[in-house]
Amino acid sequence: MSQDLFVTGTDTNVGKTVLSALLVAALDAVYWKPIQTGATEGTDRRTIMKLAEIPAEQTLPETYLFDPPVSPHLAARLAGARIDLARIRKPAIASGRPLVAEGAGGVLVPVNDSDFMLDLICALGMPVVVAARSALGTINHTCLTVGALRDAGASVKGVVAIGAENRNNEEAIATYSGVPIIGRIPQLDTISRRVLLEVFRVHFDRRAFPVAHA
Ligand SMILES: Nc1ncnc2c1ncn2[C@@H]1O[C@H](COP(=O)(O)OP(=O)(O)OP(=O)(O)O)[C@@H](O)[C@H]1O
Ligand SMILES: [Mg+2]
Repeated sequence: MSQDLFVTGTDTNVGKTVLSALLVAALDAVYWKPIQTGATEGTDRRTIMKLAEIPAEQTLPETYLFDPPVSPHLAARLAGARIDLARIRKPAIASGRPLVAEGAGGVLVPVNDSDFMLDLICALGMPVVVAARSALGTINHTCLTVGALRDAGASVKGVVAIGAENRNNEEAIATYSGVPIIGRIPQLDTISRRVLLEVFRVHFDRRAFPVAHA
């Protein structure tokens, strides 16, 4: 059974890369960030290599890579380019490893004058995991995100809550969004492969990740 996952989030800076590193380590997956902006400040691919302690060969090159730390539609425009979703194809992985893809920002981030990150997610057809903050405000953001994904026909596997544990918010998200909380990542002092694998072991629902090695 395919265990490919697309990691999106309720916002930028919410913890998608940390969650992706955890999933890459636990599932022994290949990482792919098809659209990366803000490359002057570093790329998520490099961060994943460091956090999950994987070689470059276990990552795929970005399809679109831009320097300014702005929304993809604007970064492309500033570069005199246009992001074409038809050019972003899910790569075949020869090793048979699952693929973990990470979006840029949230689902309604524009990528050109007519498409959003949501359209890329639907075109790729991968099951989606939503990274959400655990703190106040998350119910609204998460329900909006899950609603948009579902209305567009995406398959939402579940939500991962990131930050200090808040069971009331987790319960509310599961009830009102209709998708389960499949994991949580506490506030971490140090983030390493060992720590991420331990978080997966303790705080993730193994039934949602049948191919996990951890
Ligand atoms: N559970 C956590 N504990 C401690 N720090 C965290 C945790 N999750 C994320 N962070 C930190 O928060 C910052 C943002 O996280 P991250 O880069 O994963 O967000 P993102 O959603 O991938 O952002 P972007 O939209 O830029 O891709 C990083 O500095 C990261 O190390
Ligand atoms: Mg990221």
